[in-house]
Amino acid sequence: MTDAHHIPVLLNESISYLITDPVGSYLDGTVGFGGHSSRFLRKLEQDAVLVGVDKDEEAFNHCKKLFEDDDRVKLYRTGFVDLNVISKIEFIDAYTGIFADLGVSSFQLDNKDSGFSYRFDARLDLRMNKSEGVPASEIVNDYSEEELANIIYNFGEERKSRSIARNIVKERLNKKIESTADLKRIIEQSVPKKNLNKTLSRVFQAFRIYVNNELDELKEFLEKAVDLLEEKGRIVILTYHSLEDRIVKEFFNYESLDCICPPEIPVCVCDKEARLKVLTRKPVAPSDEETENNPRARSAKLRVAERI
Ligand SMILES: C[S@@+](CC[C@H](N)C(=O)[O-])C[C@H]1O[C@@H](n2cnc3c(N)ncnc32)[C@H](O)[C@@H]1O
Repeated sequence: MTDAHHIPVLLNESISYLITDPVGSYLDGTVGFGGHSSRFLRKLEQDAVLVGVDKDEEAFNHCKKLFEDDDRVKLYRTGFVDLNVISKIEFIDAYTGIFADLGVSSFQLDNKDSGFSYRFDARLDLRMNKSEGVPASEIVNDYSEEELANIIYNFGEERKSRSIARNIVKERLNKKIESTADLKRIIEQSVPKKNLNKTLSRVFQAFRIYVNNELDELKEFLEKAVDLLEEKGRIVILTYHSLEDRIVKEFFNYESLDCICPPEIPVCVCDKEARLKVLTRKPVAPSDEETENNPRARSAKLRVAERI
């Protein structure tokens, strides 16, 4: 059942890095359709706890059913930035492991009505939680050309950001941009055919990241997660594009430093203490076999650090 919704990526690697104590407390910040979590649970004994969090209504409802008979599982439909509040409710002071598998699930991408993919015509929304924030259609119709170009460039790393933004502004004078097909048509008019699919992915990714505030929430989540890890507890993060991966890499590197004084200062005055030891100097990537079986795994990178 789970596989029909989403094939979990780097599953064995995630399990072996995350689960260090079979009776520990764990948090899966992006429980999705429970692919990773159900396998984590197989390694955990009855006294363990697994808190599962997801913003998405369908994912949450799916997991409610999937884990209804498992007392070890506590589910919350919210953003992972709320992990400190959730932990208070659950009386958890510190976790043995914190996991996040970022981005969207295959179910979200393949569901015709969810509007996450340019492959299907749907409302241009792109929010993971439809009751929070504003849909992408509002941004596309209301923001200035410069603001749109910046979103497309900063969150999609798309070089044609300016001409796409110009065409959005031109088109919306004729007709409001309301659907994924409307936006797709404008992008098709803005770039050569040979780059089209890459550009479509980048522009949709850019607006998705923007409307869900994904990068800021990731930074906030990482900060809070480190505060909530027990000694030797692990943080395991799976990313799918360079913007996310850079944030995780830089955060882990910063947290593993004992001093951040400029080199010209002879004695340390910063009082900084390392809180993490990085366990994956290079990120773990899927094998050729895994990407062949699951093409969505191809851009995945797994980074792991341990609380000192
Ligand atoms: C790649 S999927 C996770 C799949 C899951 N590991 C599995 O095996 O089924 C990412 C999930 O994270 C959720 N998500 C993304 N950002 C989130 C956030 N800030 N807070 C909570 N959930 C989030 C999405 O709704 C989606 O269900």
